[in-house]
Order: sequence, then C-alpha cells, then structure tokens
Amino acid sequence: MNPAYTILSALLISLLFVSPDPIGAARLTDRAHSRQSTAIQQPQSVRVAVFALGSFWRSESAFGCLPGVVRTSVGYAGGSKTNPEYRNPGDHAECVKVEYDPRKIQYSELLDVFWASHDSRQVFGQGPDVGNQYRSIIFTNGTVEVRLAAASKEREQAKSRSSVVTTKIQPLAAFYPAEAEHQKFELKRRPLLLQLIGNLPEEELLASTLATKLNAYAGGLCAPHMQKRIYSKIGDVLRNGWPVLREI
Ligand SMILES: *[C@@H]1O[C@H](CO)[C@@H](O)[C@H](O)[C@H]1NC(C)=O
Repeated sequence: MNPAYTILSALLISLLFVSPDPIGAARLTDRAHSRQSTAIQQPQSVRVAVFALGSFWRSESAFGCLPGVVRTSVGYAGGSKTNPEYRNPGDHAECVKVEYDPRKIQYSELLDVFWASHDSRQVFGQGPDVGNQYRSIIFTNGTVEVRLAAASKEREQAKSRSSVVTTKIQPLAAFYPAEAEHQKFELKRRPLLLQLIGNLPEEELLASTLATKLNAYAGGLCAPHMQKRIYSKIGDVLRNGWPVLREI
C-alpha cells in the first residue's frame, strides 16, 4: 500500500475516535459507500415473515443476526387504521418484517426465535411497554405457515397450563413501514458502527444485510459466539488499515 495512503488511513482512524464528526468523514463516507454497494446481495428467492412481539426496536434486533436472514425492517400491521404512525398506531401492532433465504433458514426456526424472544403470556405488553401496540402476533401468509404457527403455539402453551399464551395468529394484510428513525434503531444509536460501514444513506441502510446484522449486534441480541466474532472483527478493522467494515 502507498505510504501516503497508510498515513491517511491512520489519520482517519484517529479522527474517528477523537471527534464525533470527523473532518475526514465525508471522504470516508464516499469511499466506503461505493464499496458497500457491491456488498448488498440479493438471493434468488427471498421469503418474508412478519411478527409482532413488543417494541419493534428490540424485535428487529432479535432476528437480524440469524444465518439466512437477509434483512429486517420495522412497521405496523394487524389493525385497520390507514397510515399508522409511531405516536398514533391506532389498532396496529409494532412488528418486524424478516426477509430470509429459505435455503438457509426455515420458517419453523424463525418461529422458535419468535417464542424465545418475548413473553407470549404477558397481556398486551412486554415488560414495561404496556399497550395494545405491543401485543404478540404471528402474521401468516398461506396454509403452510398457518399450520406451523398453530402447532408451535400449541407446543408453547403445553409448556405450562397455568397461564394463557396470548399470541394471535392472523393473516398478514397490509404492512406499513415505520418512520425512518425507527428502522435499525439500535444501530443508529452507535455512530461509530454506522461510520464503519460508511454512513450509508437511509435506503441503502435499509437494504443492507451487514447493517441488519450490526443492528442485532448493537442490541446485544446476536448469539453469544456471533457477538464475540463481530466484536473482534470490528477491533481488527479499526486496528489494521482502511476503516471500513464490509462483511462479518
Ligand atoms: C404471500 O406470499 C407470496 C409468495 O409466496 C407473495 O407473492 C405475497 O405477496 C405474500 N403476501 C403478503 C401479504 O405478503
């Protein structure tokens, strides 16, 4: 590598740490941006699963790190109000839309994560988040999903009969994407991570598999071995050269 380039990289890395808005950020962003675009991969067949399990900030993190999940986004579904908003969701529930490659992960595995990631027995809420918009729902598309969802709910209920699993299973009708500030919420709270992937414009951030994984990492909801792997990868990138994270 050209020595001037190396010095410039080192300078940019140091700026990354000393200033929340480094002078080098614009240049860094352009360069990272052009590289990142090629990293967005589109598997041939992507399926969609939608779940409501409490606050969609956390829900998005819960699914983002799974192998085979291509991307996640958050929105509102399950109600009748048109154009729901965060402060005014009407009768909708906050939910996560999971796009996945069925060759790598099965719908039934997503259901397992759904059950493991929330308390399906709490009525209209999760922990301190209380309200109708935090209710638990599996949105289905087609009879196969209905059958798998119903069977998984029965298994969940069978674990204990002392309280009722409140989860509803209902066909997915309209999904309203949530406002930009709620997408990749955990990642957006970590400016350094955003910068590491090149401060992507909003629409690329939404489409990026890498951002999806990092959002889960930022929420602390990757599997422990993945949390560790991503942590050390970030460390490597910061130590060794051009500070752009392209894959994990
Ligand atoms: C249901 O799945 C099919 C493909 O299997 C898709 O074309 C359709 O858009 C889906 N419906 C909804 C409401 O997402």
